[in-house]
Amino acid sequence: MEPSATWDVDSIDLSDMEFWRRPWAEREDAFATLRRERPISHYDEPVIENTSIEFPAGTGYYALTKYRDVATASRHPDVFLSGPGAVSLMDLPSEMVEYFSGMISTDNPKHARLRRIVSNAFNPRNVRAVEDSIDRKADEIITRAAANGTGDFITDIAARFPLEIICDMMGVPPSEYESVLRHSNIILSNGDPDFIPVDQDPILFVLESGAALTALMEELGKYRMDNPIDDITSALVNAEIESEKLTHQELASFFVLLVAAGNETTRTAIAHGLYALTEHPEEKARLLADYEGLAKTATDEIVRWASPVIWMRRTLAEDYVLSDYELTKGDKVLLFYSSANRDEDVFADPYVFDVGRSPNEHYGFGAPGPHFCLGAHLARREITVMFRELLRRYPGIHSDGTPLQLQSSFINGIKRLDYTF
Ligand code: HEM
Repeated sequence: MEPSATWDVDSIDLSDMEFWRRPWAEREDAFATLRRERPISHYDEPVIENTSIEFPAGTGYYALTKYRDVATASRHPDVFLSGPGAVSLMDLPSEMVEYFSGMISTDNPKHARLRRIVSNAFNPRNVRAVEDSIDRKADEIITRAAANGTGDFITDIAARFPLEIICDMMGVPPSEYESVLRHSNIILSNGDPDFIPVDQDPILFVLESGAALTALMEELGKYRMDNPIDDITSALVNAEIESEKLTHQELASFFVLLVAAGNETTRTAIAHGLYALTEHPEEKARLLADYEGLAKTATDEIVRWASPVIWMRRTLAEDYVLSDYELTKGDKVLLFYSSANRDEDVFADPYVFDVGRSPNEHYGFGAPGPHFCLGAHLARREITVMFRELLRRYPGIHSDGTPLQLQSSFINGIKRLDYTF
């Protein structure tokens, strides 16, 4: 992922989907150029083609590419809001609010109240309590995949593993795993033609997936209203905030957020992890020699390296001067975590994959602030367990060839990664 091309800063357009189809090394170079020459740059709204849904008009956004600016925005949630228009790049049209305007797109005091309902399930103590089931899942999935000896690492392992864990936590039965995977792929596909056929209205397609996940939540929730069990869906449908139940919209968007966030991100980290270990055999050898000693730093380095979530958006509550740039009330900013994670001012040799990297205060899970990733403990555990088991049982495991990149500005995804045990 070392930068490769040389960019003229004026030719970089982060709103052009062509940019996101470029190889990683070229993208890295563009961001290195931005950090150096124009750390806060403005872009017009991207154009969404072939949809009948009308998006509210917007005035574009500022891309924050330096670690320090991403940190400032995250640490001042009273100025850099998550609520107005949602954390997506474009303000959500009313049709999408129902499914996609979850807790991540709210501010205090509402955000703190919503987060409290589910935070217990994801705290370190509870993640430790489900460790056995995470170990068991890893074992089952690897055994199933190893029977073939080779295949696509994404479908066999990287996507399967977090999918089954989050579904179990939510109370989704195995018969629905495939459908949950398909819908969360569509929701976070950013219109990639491998997930949304080119002759379809991409936004209607995404809305249908939101509706399908919501229907599943309703079905699971019905029983749990009278018979609460120890899963997150029970916690959601029975939660009361100041003696009021969550509204249908709050429930639907909560469910969609947890399922999609729990799936697509960890999968991306695990996929990049195998590719990075294959491309850097000396780092793999270090891990094989001392997995327990390096597991913690290696897991965080995989998340920094992969930066599965490329950005989140905030909206200015008031005029604000950020590193000498004058931002105005209502402006949108995108916090480029992926670029912050390569910031030369913070990381020594940012393009070196180092499983022992320390310190490593990366922003893969977001920067410090109220929205810091709720699933960070769970995701770290999943990554640690999966690589421990893969390397212990199949030390020769490696990826083959070049990964197929997801065409997305939002998730740094891999669609296909051939591998051999
Ligand atoms: C390697 C895996 C993961 C990465 C890289 C990741 C990344 C992120 C990022 C960047 C944010 C936004 C932080 C912000 O805006 O300040 C976030 C928030 C969130 N993540 Fe994760 N995530 C991962 C795994 C998970 C998992 C397994 C779950 C489980 C459901 C999860 C649930 C959430 C939720 C619910 C939020 C919103 C929190 C809030 O608004 O309070 N994430 N994550």
